[in-house]
Amino acid sequence: VRRTAEPYKIKSVETLAMLSYDERKEALIKAGYNTFLIDSADVYIDLLTDSGTTAMSDAQWGALMTGDEAYAGSKSWKKLEETVREVYGYRYVLPTHQGRGAENILSQLKIKDGDFIPGNMYFTTTRAHQEMNGAKFVDVIIDEAHDPNVNHPFKGNIDLTKLQKVIDDVGAENIPYVCLAVTVNLAGGQPVSMENMKDVYSLCKSNGIDVFLDATRCVENAYFIKEREDGFADKKIAAILKEMLSYSDGCTMSGKKDCLVNIGGFLAMNDEELYIRSRELVVVYEGMPSYGGMAGRDMEAMAIGIREAVDDHYIEHRIQQVRHLGDQLIDAGIPIVLPIGGHAVFLDARKFLPHLKQEDFPAQALAAALYLDSGVRSMERGIISAGRNIETGENNTPKLELVRLTIPRRVYTNNHMNVVVDSIIDLFNKRDEICGLQMDYEPPTLRFFNARFSPL
Ligand code: F0G
Repeated sequence: VRRTAEPYKIKSVETLAMLSYDERKEALIKAGYNTFLIDSADVYIDLLTDSGTTAMSDAQWGALMTGDEAYAGSKSWKKLEETVREVYGYRYVLPTHQGRGAENILSQLKIKDGDFIPGNMYFTTTRAHQEMNGAKFVDVIIDEAHDPNVNHPFKGNIDLTKLQKVIDDVGAENIPYVCLAVTVNLAGGQPVSMENMKDVYSLCKSNGIDVFLDATRCVENAYFIKEREDGFADKKIAAILKEMLSYSDGCTMSGKKDCLVNIGGFLAMNDEELYIRSRELVVVYEGMPSYGGMAGRDMEAMAIGIREAVDDHYIEHRIQQVRHLGDQLIDAGIPIVLPIGGHAVFLDARKFLPHLKQEDFPAQALAAALYLDSGVRSMERGIISAGRNIETGENNTPKLELVRLTIPRRVYTNNHMNVVVDSIIDLFNKRDEICGLQMDYEPPTLRFFNARFSPL
């Protein structure tokens, strides 16, 4: 095979911190063994998240200067609005400061107390907004998604039988919308097939239920459809994306991922009445409907990023870089979630550290050990992230106990990925030495951000 390379060249560089083992140890203790609490100045390769960590292009940086900072009627907003309409295909768009701003508004307007929101696995902020507005989230993803070892091309798919059962059990009138994430972050960046999106939409429409997408990583989802689903190999990513979004009534979007910017988001929909009501709430929570928490220059950058993201060369390299990391780990016998997803490689901490019980927080412990070994920062996505049951107060115990190695877009080279591989292989060889953690401080909501730990 002939090797390929980045479809861009580097114009500006940022020097990385390279701490000694002792300095890293000190930083880890100061952070209470929680990678969220480590100062970025102490991190060598930062794989905490792909959110807002994108490198912007020269075109985006150039456009910052042309941002229209008017309080009302900004030209930059018009440009962003038009771009979303054209690339995503929705009729109405409202700007928000990031994805969760859109989630807040959608949840407030659509959900009444006692409602149910079926979805393909959950995302932390999305579910928090649904619950804060009185809904119960019901997971209707296919069973395969909960098993890190099952290799399924579209592990993010909704199980239509499960969805039908929720509808039968609680009644369509108590389901304001189905929340369909493309791709599914916590399942490992797993995609949803076009066929499944179509089927979900038609089942929902025949029951009078709306479908709202979490479109955060929708371009990555489109790439998997092109690669894996019959009939899409010769289509442009932009066309696949537009078809995907046509099987929905609207979306919430975190621009910090597939819009290739550091901040921003939007809420989009086709229903005019919902748009008018949403516009009222944007003013209350985000800002005028012509900026919604973003500066004019941010909106310029996002309008350009939206188009750059649907470039076929960009997205192919993006997915291939994630695989460059993941394939090497597979070859070395490291347990990871299969297949490799769109934005991250997920280590299976249960299998990596079989000597630890889930109550000893294996994923949190592995993330801490990786930082200590090489200054690579990752994120726990397991029992800590899953929080507690809102009714019983018990720990949710997700089947997936994972460490996420999330790849920022256009930021690191494949050499950085190789450094990560070497560190993980070394850790795997001495995995018996990694001990569990105890939680010394537990915040009441979204505990993973601020919890503190110490070694058992
Ligand atoms: N939906 C998904 C699937 C996400 O991954 C995120 C953010 C959001 C919604 C919320 O968007 O951050 O712009 O408010 N995910 C980040 C992550 C935080 O690291 O996975 P936001």
